Amino acid sequence: MKNYKTVVLSNQEISTGYYRMRILAPGFGSKAKPGQFLMFRVQTSLPPLLRRPFGIFRTGFLPADCDGQAPKEFVEILYKVVGRGTDIMSNLQVGSKVEVLGPLGRGFDMGVPGEQKILVGGGIGLVPLYMLARELTRKSSVRLLMGGRTREDILAVTEFERLGVETYVSTDDGSLGEEGLVTQVLLRKLDKYPNASVYACGPMPMIEAVQEICAARGVPLQVSLEALMACGVGACLGCVVKGAGHSEASPRYLCSCKEGPVFRAEQLDWTKLGQEPGYCEGCKI
Ligand SMILES: Cc1cc2nc3c(=O)[nH]c(=O)nc-3n(C[C@H](O)[C@H](O)[C@H](O)COP(=O)(O)OP(=O)(O)OC[C@H]3O[C@@H](n4cnc5c(N)ncnc54)[C@H](O)[C@@H]3O)c2cc1C
Ligand code: FES
Repeated sequence: MKNYKTVVLSNQEISTGYYRMRILAPGFGSKAKPGQFLMFRVQTSLPPLLRRPFGIFRTGFLPADCDGQAPKEFVEILYKVVGRGTDIMSNLQVGSKVEVLGPLGRGFDMGVPGEQKILVGGGIGLVPLYMLARELTRKSSVRLLMGGRTREDILAVTEFERLGVETYVSTDDGSLGEEGLVTQVLLRKLDKYPNASVYACGPMPMIEAVQEICAARGVPLQVSLEALMACGVGACLGCVVKGAGHSEASPRYLCSCKEGPVFRAEQLDWTKLGQEPGYCEGCKI
């Protein structure tokens, strides 16, 4: 893990309030593993001073120039504008200088080759699932169940389809795909593929519902958590979540940035997770 000073190659709005940014990633793009993230410093002088965490959506190489230089690595992130940091990011132009720390954290375990894999993404939670799908489709058959509030929240589905992933879309208002919750689709798919492994990332209520379904059916589940983070490297403990077996008498905490953000469902204390997501006032700086 290292701090890189790099530049923005593109930064475009792809759906209302959602942006896709490509940055040069010399020396680190190709090292990133599915589920890892970057800490992104939007600017150095004014607030927000702290870096903001973003999942890595895609990595790749720019074609080699005719001047014979080696192909250059890039990384793409998808982000939703929710506050000051992401608002500043949305205004960065091609060539703007940015600083990133990473790739950070523990990514997904690829599971057993050949078994059915079901990926469940809610809104911007689909970000870490693309690199995962790219890796999994080499050895397994992969389905993506993508949920959002409206059609605006459904991103990049055709890119998953190009990987050979079967995709199912549901929206709360029925403006795209099936009307209703993504968990309804999950129940149907698990009826058909009871031995599948599930991978999920999205809002906490969705993750909790997915966990209940998987636990009831004894299906292996990995989740990528988006607990608030300040340092991203295990130094501030602002991102801790309660681990399985946690009690006041014998507290067990897991550091979401270092031991996660991807966890196996059985590592976590689900009774406490939704009520007390990692929260750190300092993260707002
Ligand atoms: C490991 C990880 C990966 C992430 N990947 C992505 C990604 O790929 N794309 C993306 O758009 N966002 C992602 N996030 C969330 C992203 O980091 C926050 O949206 C961002 O930090 C907000 O910064 P801000 O300054 O714009 O907003 P702030 O002013 O810091 O916050 C504005 C609002 O957003 C809420 N918020 C801030 N951070 C989070 C969070 N982590 N989870 C839920 N709500 C939050 C705050 O509570 C507040 O209501 C990820 C977070 C983590 C921990
Ligand atoms: S964000 Fe600082 S320890 Fe995880």
